[in-house]
Amino acid sequence: MSQKKRTLLVTSALPYANGPIHLGHLVEYIQTDIWVRFQKLRGHDCVYVCADDAHGTPIMLRAEQDGITPEQLIAAVGAEHQADFSDFHIEFDNYYSTHSPENRELSELIYRRHLDAGHITSRTITQAYDPVKEMFLPDRFIKGECPRCGAADQHGDSCEACGATYTPTELKNPVSVVSGTTPVERESLHYFFKLADFEPLLRDWTSGDHVQDEVTNKLNEWFEQGLREWDISRDAPYFGFRIPDTTDKYFYVWLDAPIGYMASFRNLCERTGRDFDAYWGRDSEAELYHFIGKDIIYFHALFWPAMLAGAGMRTPTAVFAHGFLTVDGQKMSKSRGTFIKARTYLDHLNPEYLRYYFAAKLGSGIDDLDLNLEDFVQRVNSDLVGKVVNIASRCAGFINKRFGGELSATCAEPELYAEFADAGTAIAADFEAREYGHAVRKIMALADRANQYIDANKPWVLAKQAGQEQTVQEVCSVGLNLFRVLATYLAPVLPAMAREVESFLNVPVMSWDDVATPLTAHTINPFKPLLTRVEQEKVDAMLEDSKHSLGNTDSGEQPASGPLQGDPIAETISFDDFARLDLRIARIAKAEHVEGADKLLRLTLDLGGETRNVFAGIKSAYTPESLEGRLTVMVANLAPRKMRFGISEGMVLAAGPGGEDLWILHPDDGARPGMRVK
Ligand code: 2FM
Ligand code: ZN
Repeated sequence: MSQKKRTLLVTSALPYANGPIHLGHLVEYIQTDIWVRFQKLRGHDCVYVCADDAHGTPIMLRAEQDGITPEQLIAAVGAEHQADFSDFHIEFDNYYSTHSPENRELSELIYRRHLDAGHITSRTITQAYDPVKEMFLPDRFIKGECPRCGAADQHGDSCEACGATYTPTELKNPVSVVSGTTPVERESLHYFFKLADFEPLLRDWTSGDHVQDEVTNKLNEWFEQGLREWDISRDAPYFGFRIPDTTDKYFYVWLDAPIGYMASFRNLCERTGRDFDAYWGRDSEAELYHFIGKDIIYFHALFWPAMLAGAGMRTPTAVFAHGFLTVDGQKMSKSRGTFIKARTYLDHLNPEYLRYYFAAKLGSGIDDLDLNLEDFVQRVNSDLVGKVVNIASRCAGFINKRFGGELSATCAEPELYAEFADAGTAIAADFEAREYGHAVRKIMALADRANQYIDANKPWVLAKQAGQEQTVQEVCSVGLNLFRVLATYLAPVLPAMAREVESFLNVPVMSWDDVATPLTAHTINPFKPLLTRVEQEKVDAMLEDSKHSLGNTDSGEQPASGPLQGDPIAETISFDDFARLDLRIARIAKAEHVEGADKLLRLTLDLGGETRNVFAGIKSAYTPESLEGRLTVMVANLAPRKMRFGISEGMVLAAGPGGEDLWILHPDDGARPGMRVK
């Protein structure tokens, strides 16, 4: 290798531990994973760490709503995230949680260093408070009418109808999303990070090569507006780390989240003996890269470098932002079925199709990326199956059947081969610059060249002619060697296929520079189909499944979904959709506590001849004894759902904001179990 061996530490943004991974998230993890795999393939020492972002109000409330502890919630969601990543071949060197001892220690250390240096200040502020729930309310947990246009049901920070931004105190008729009550104003002491202390450093850092040009422009706007102090504390109750020397103040989730990168790396160091300071010390020579979405630039390009520098640590080498995912040109939508969870995709389709499609469309900028499903099917089938894999399937049979799997003793087309090998320099430059779309285009142009070569030499015709044995072997050996080069260039994108190709070609784990020399007089293994065509029916089935796989898909800044008053009204459904609900009167034959669940009761419901086991989060309002023998209304045709405590075979209808104010009973007015409710 001509290049010097580099030391890199790479991260992707930490997903919140209260919702599933979806295709929108995967743009980033796939983008990062390709880059990391490329660096490793080039022989560099590259480490990729990530973690679940486990703190904050939404996670605390979500756990409460599910009747479990936050620790139980983050453990369960963390396990799901890791399974999704692994099945998409996202290969972290360490995956951790921000709720870890390493993160607590590092967050306290960084905070103390800033405190000692005078970069933290405190003052009393007035905030919205929920007197019923006894908690301060983040802006997103307050709803009301927009002070500008009067639109109802708007969040506490901005109006979706007219785009106005404001403070929650300006909302008309505000209500707490948590309890439905009217918030009151209350004072509390908060801690602030004096970001403006770092303005010269940040101006200098952001004008270097550390961010993309589009991002520099955005940052300049922020500099013009002035760097405001950042509120880094939250009052109890809060799921997070308590601020040292306080009794009821916690670090805001966004303070310890980026430190979570460092904590995950420290955990890796503890396991493997890597030198933590060699990466994070002020004079570190390691390269540090953060891949993020364009919505969290402020945190990564202003707060984070300032936090690091103020704590005497190194700043990132670069922050790489990307755009959002649209599906068929529109925002992902549950009703269209385009809000696709990672798991739903995996239930139907091969992850490498999506890796390839995203790679083909990814560039180094912050433009949004569109998953056009028709184009997806067409591109995967024509490029991967029709061009790349086709080269191998056209040549392998002859080599295996006629030559005992042995490739020819010399490469019959040294110039053509050299053209392929030399293309590696430009393709590597594209990968390095995150211009994957350009790399893919170059690789596909080579695949076309390889197919043209085979078309021109027609081994299937030569094979029928006497005296052409050697030529058949040579042509097919050239074809397979060209295929090997392409599989190597595609290995960062298609790692599972790369492993299959290694075993088919009987070669050790690929490295970028191996392609310099063709395989000659080398024995390969029988060919097995490497990738099959995408079937449109599978895509359709995935969309259909996505329409029905409801469940929580909230991000951390949103309130948890569920029976919380003030939830946004869902998209309109047709009368036919509504009519599909089969609502029935049920008699509560039995009601029991569920061990380990704070909120749930297990109900045995009698539908007049059939009984159902249903879990309902109604313990705050009813004792089991008060329910037995009474009537309720249930959704009788809901597909059974696996819950933490067993299978739930339906759902009872409840009204009210929650807590004690929750009603599920139907009057005993002659209604009989099993009767349809109109
Ligand atoms: O926006 C998000 O989804 C955050 N959970 C990202 C955190 S990235 C880092 F700073 F930890
Ligand atoms: Zn408005």
